[in-house]
Amino acid sequence: MKYRAIIFDLDGVICFTDRYHYQAWKKLADRLGIYFDEEINNRLRGVSRMESLEIILERSGKNYSQEEKNAFAEEKNETYRELLKQMTAEDLSDEVKSTLDTLRAKGLKLAIGSSSKNTRTILSRIGLGDFFDEISDGTNITNSKPDPEVFIKAAQFVGEEPKDCLVVEDAEAGIEAACRGGFDSAALGEAKRHPNATYCLNGFAELAELV
Ligand code: BG6
Ligand code: MG
Repeated sequence: MKYRAIIFDLDGVICFTDRYHYQAWKKLADRLGIYFDEEINNRLRGVSRMESLEIILERSGKNYSQEEKNAFAEEKNETYRELLKQMTAEDLSDEVKSTLDTLRAKGLKLAIGSSSKNTRTILSRIGLGDFFDEISDGTNITNSKPDPEVFIKAAQFVGEEPKDCLVVEDAEAGIEAACRGGFDSAALGEAKRHPNATYCLNGFAELAELV
């Protein structure tokens, strides 16, 4: 087998919480009168909550205090967590679930590498609360993607070297993080724009043929 472990990004790879992130940021941006669209949203993929806010505020033309920024980030997170309440096991696609089962049956270790501090809430909602061998997320890192920290921690948690792990990502920042950390990567969606992805996938199920 080519790899010993697979490290999955969460938002936009395992489930489509990326659209809830967009809705929640859009609501905040509209309230503040700041222009925000899907193209700007793509720059937020894989990026931490506070760094995402900084990207949105680039177009505000104002200098907000740290207290105001903290309040904006909290406001966005409350909207986002309200949206997450509608998620159930039905939000886990058959394609993702059956591919994960196939990869597990091949004996691969399966881990999460996500910048989100809501990772465990989301995994529970979609019925994967106990599925992954290890979870590395926004609660155990200080630098978010494109820094490789979240993936390096995931590799350490599963006890494997980066060269033996494949990272699966929908963010260009995530592919960059994988490269910097010495990981091979499989790109989905927007991440395929990054020139250094090891593989470009048309769908999640293609992973089963790769490894
Ligand atoms: C990443 C998302 O997975 O998590 C980003 O791609 C998001 O868009 C980041 O900003 C942080 O998420 P959270 O849930 O901690 O606000
Ligand atoms: Mg993502």
